[in-house]
Amino acid sequence: MSKVTVVGAGNVGATVAQYIAEKDLADVTLVDVVEGLPQGKSLDMLQVSPVHYHDRKIEGSNSYEATKDSDIVVITAGVARKPGMTRDDLLKINANIVRDVATNAIKYSPNAIFIVVSNPLDVMTYLTWKTTKLPHNKVIGMAGVLDSARFQTFIAMETGFSVEDVRAMVLGGHGDLMVPLTRFATVNGIPISEFVSKDKIDALVARTRDGGAEIVKHLKTGSAYYAPGASVVQMVEAILKDKNRLIPCAVLADGHYGLKDVYIGLPCVLGKEGLKQIVDIKLNDEEAAELKKSAESIRENIDKMNELLAVAAV
Ligand code: NAI
Ligand code: 2OP
Repeated sequence: MSKVTVVGAGNVGATVAQYIAEKDLADVTLVDVVEGLPQGKSLDMLQVSPVHYHDRKIEGSNSYEATKDSDIVVITAGVARKPGMTRDDLLKINANIVRDVATNAIKYSPNAIFIVVSNPLDVMTYLTWKTTKLPHNKVIGMAGVLDSARFQTFIAMETGFSVEDVRAMVLGGHGDLMVPLTRFATVNGIPISEFVSKDKIDALVARTRDGGAEIVKHLKTGSAYYAPGASVVQMVEAILKDKNRLIPCAVLADGHYGLKDVYIGLPCVLGKEGLKQIVDIKLNDEEAAELKKSAESIRENIDKMNELLAVAAV
């Protein structure tokens, strides 16, 4: 019986827990600092089981003891940026939260694979790797699946073909500098340039880069959670079922694509060890330059986070 802990019982965390149980993948423990929140949500989800027919245990807790011996820990804890809060304020608050979560979770599940969701994604994944001291293949960030799903959705909407036939990958950091690989985007193997003009492809790329913000504009008080939740669960399933899926995830670049000591979205093979392999594909000059720029921006934020955490520790 596999066990997945989800820390942060907010919108994304609860959606992850719900999809895991309903896909019958694992038992789930939801953890949050807010008393009653993980308990209430998990009890509600458990009461879906006689209706959707699964026998998965779902429990909620404010303590990490309940997370003992998890196979996977998903970190969704954090706060969203509020009016008046700078990006640095957000970086510092979420870094303190994620460091605290990772420190506690690893104590009870030293063999777990960590999937990080909290933003800023690439920086928080790097922090989780540093905090847990796990081998890098066991600390992976979720963003590429989501950004690729958004890109695929927009391609299907534009071409009118079924999403089932659309494949596309987005690399790079989870932000304005992400790198949607238009050259490799296809409808059942046929390049999308056969169906969509260059201007339209540029517009799809821009909408993908702005995908999170477009939803925030509608929701006003929060950000996306259905597609993020489903994207995390695709990674959970690939790991638990040792599927060897080739999907983009935020992982430690160690010379791959000319990048070093930075977490960034790259094509990965996922299976029971977590990251099994980073797949090196030949990018053209423009794609490589975009990836490098994205990595530089993540690196700056990692440095900034290290400064902010060092200041906080004094
Ligand atoms: P939310 O506000 O609904 O939930 C966050 C939860 O974290 C809250 O329930 C809060 O009580 C909890 N929390 C705060 N500090 C905690 C701590 N120290 N220990 C345990 N729990 C703690 O936010 P939502 O929508 O669930 O988003 C969660 C995070 O995921 C945010 O940082 C968001 O920006 C990020 N996100 C990342 C995506 C990606 O593609 N990587 C996609 C969507 C969201
Ligand atoms: C998203 O892309 C907010 O990172 C989150 O929806």
